[in-house]
Amino acid sequence: MERETVTFYELLGGTSGIRRIVEAFYPKVLQEPLLAPLFPKDITPVMEKQTEFLTQFFGGPPLFSEKYGHPMMRARHMRFPVTRERADAWLGCMRRALDEVGVEPALRDAVMERLQGPAYHFVNS
Ligand code: HEM
Repeated sequence: MERETVTFYELLGGTSGIRRIVEAFYPKVLQEPLLAPLFPKDITPVMEKQTEFLTQFFGGPPLFSEKYGHPMMRARHMRFPVTRERADAWLGCMRRALDEVGVEPALRDAVMERLQGPAYHFVNS
């Protein structure tokens, strides 16, 4: 039998599942004193970009690159002072968002492990 690779994209319910996570995530970001000041008042465009990015990052179609080109995500974060404390806070919001939408703990932990590398890689201050 042929082996198939199941992606996080599929396990999280595709783009609509990822959108639900993103919709749970940003309200937490905006409640987080370390993170909120970095973000614009109108968070809707950021949510859309994040849904497109995470779709692609987790193995789905390249929705982000189709619109915006190469992600270069660390470079895109350079205009913001990303500290280790902010990376921890970002990851904390994401973990709580995954819990809130009911992602089961084993999958949640695997997703968190996948996001930890990039989050700490974006630290620039
Ligand atoms: C480490 C802590 C992080 C902080 C403090 C942070 C903060 C920010 C801020 C302030 C923006 C810009 C919002 C705006 O448009 O004005 C942004 C954009 C974005 N972030 Fe992060 N971020 C972090 C980690 C991550 C991680 C781990 C990912 C994904 C793996 C990510 C994905 C994105 C995406 C896709 C955008 C939109 C990029 C664009 O405008 O083209 N971020 N982030």
